[in-house]
Amino acid sequence: MDIISDPLLFQQQASTWRRLGETTALVPTMGAFHEGHLSLMRYAKTQARKVMVSLFVNPSQFGPSEDLSAYPRDLDRDVHLAQEAGVDLLFNPRPEAMYALDHATWVEVPSLARDLCGRTRPVHFRGVATVVVKLLNLAQPTLAVFGEKDWQQLAIIKRLARDLFIPTHIVGRPIVRDEDGLALSSRNAYLTPEERAMAPALSQGLRQAKAWVREGLTRSKDLLDRLALFYASDLALARVDYLRLVDPENLTPVEEIRQPALLAAAVYLGRARLIDNILIPV
Ligand code: PAF
Repeated sequence: MDIISDPLLFQQQASTWRRLGETTALVPTMGAFHEGHLSLMRYAKTQARKVMVSLFVNPSQFGPSEDLSAYPRDLDRDVHLAQEAGVDLLFNPRPEAMYALDHATWVEVPSLARDLCGRTRPVHFRGVATVVVKLLNLAQPTLAVFGEKDWQQLAIIKRLARDLFIPTHIVGRPIVRDEDGLALSSRNAYLTPEERAMAPALSQGLRQAKAWVREGLTRSKDLLDRLALFYASDLALARVDYLRLVDPENLTPVEEIRQPALLAAAVYLGRARLIDNILIPV
C-alpha cells in the first residue's frame, strides 16, 4: 500500500491509474478505523481495481468548541488495518497542504445542511462539503463510498455531486453496528462504561419506533413524542439533541408517513454526541 501525503502526488497516482484504464474507488475517512470504515474499504475493493482511502481529520468541519484536538488518532494502527483491508493507497495530507493560508473557496448546500445536525453544528457541513469536493477533485474516482450513519452528510454529498456535475458515483453503505446495536463510531471511544452500557438504547428506540409505525402510528408528532418518552426512560443519561422524521432525499420534515421516511436521532451522552437513523418503510 502506498502512503502519500502530498495532494499533487496523490492526484498524479490517481490519474495514472485512470489512464491505465483501472476503475478506482475513494473512501474518505478521518481515521481511527473501526469495522464500519473497514466494511466501506472492503466493499470498495469489490467494486474497483484500485482503492484509495483518505485519512484526514478535516479542521474546517469542527466548530470552535468541538473535539478537533481530542479526535482519536492512531496512524500506525490505521495503516495496518487499511493494508489488511486491501487498500492500494492511503492519502494522509497535512492540514496546510489541504488549506492554503489564503484558502477562500467554500462549498455549501444550505437547504440540506440547515436542520438536523446542522442546527447545533452550523459550520460542519460546509467543512465536509468543501473537503469532499477537494478529495473528489484530487482522486476523480469512479465511485466514492460513505457510511449511511451520517445520512445527512451522504444526502449533501449526493446533491453536490449532482449539482456540480462531479462524475463520481456516490455510494452509501449500511450502518455497521456492535452486537448490542450501537452504531460504530470513532466517538464511541469517549463513552464511560456506564454510558456505553446505556448507548444501545439509541438504536433500540429507533427500531421500536419502526414497530410503532407498523402498528399504525403514522403521525410524525405522535411518533416523535413517544420516542422522546422512550429515551427519557431508557437513555436517561443522555440529552436529546434532535429527533426528526424527514424525507430521505431532501431531508424536509414528514408530517404523516405515506412514503418511506428517515427517522434520525442525535443525543449527547457524556462527552460523546451520538447519531443514528433508520429508514421507515410505508
Ligand atoms: O464522515 C467522515 O469521516 C468525514 O465527514 C469525511 C466524509 C471524511 C469528510 O471529512
